[in-house]
Amino acid sequence: MKTPIKVFSDWVRSGKDEGMKNNHFKPVMKMIELFENKYENPSIIDAGCGNGWLIRHFYENKKYTNLTGVDGSNDMIAKAKTLDHENNYICSELDLWKPDNKVDVVISMEVIYYFKNPEIIIKHIFNNWIKKNGVFIMGIDFYLENEKCHDWKEKTGVDTMELFSSEVWINFFEESGFKNVNKYFFNQGKEWKGTLVVEGFKF
Ligand SMILES: C[S@@+](CC[C@H](N)C(=O)[O-])C[C@H]1O[C@@H](n2cnc3c(N)ncnc32)[C@H](O)[C@@H]1O
Repeated sequence: MKTPIKVFSDWVRSGKDEGMKNNHFKPVMKMIELFENKYENPSIIDAGCGNGWLIRHFYENKKYTNLTGVDGSNDMIAKAKTLDHENNYICSELDLWKPDNKVDVVISMEVIYYFKNPEIIIKHIFNNWIKKNGVFIMGIDFYLENEKCHDWKEKTGVDTMELFSSEVWINFFEESGFKNVNKYFFNQGKEWKGTLVVEGFKF
């Protein structure tokens, strides 16, 4: 078994990271719809940005200009920087980093269950990353109700992947201080429960 960051760094070397945009694109577009009419040119952090495809999407298609991607994998961040010289990419473990300026929107796709205690990183984001009236939108495919994902830990050889129900994820948000916490299931299929999306606001 390897750490999540080691596994994803290996994915960059084999080119497997390229598939993540395809796999995550549809639910992430629905996640964007949750906030795009609420903020004008929002400042955004992509928490666990991988190779930076979503930051590039925001810059090229939405014309947003205050964009930061953070990821713990040096290889992911090196690739993001090679592909994009306009936006900010930072290599850091999410729980060890704070932005200089808090932002309107934190978005994160397929990352937060790689933490042993996700409530700690959610609270860290609430306290240190998000402005008043800002929002955190988290998407995950690995959760209890989505039975198709239950063997992913064995399949990927990642040592830390925490499986919780959607209700437990909601509690993590509420206990961290987020208000108006909602959950959605985007991009559902026949045996696929969909991407669990949890949003919470900081008032
Ligand atoms: C499944 S990938 C998702 C990447 C991107 N969000 C996407 O949708 O393509 C998970 C990412 O989380 C990053 N990651 C995992 N644990 C992390 C940690 N403790 N700190 C920072 N990044 C982490 C990995 O390096 C990897 O790039």
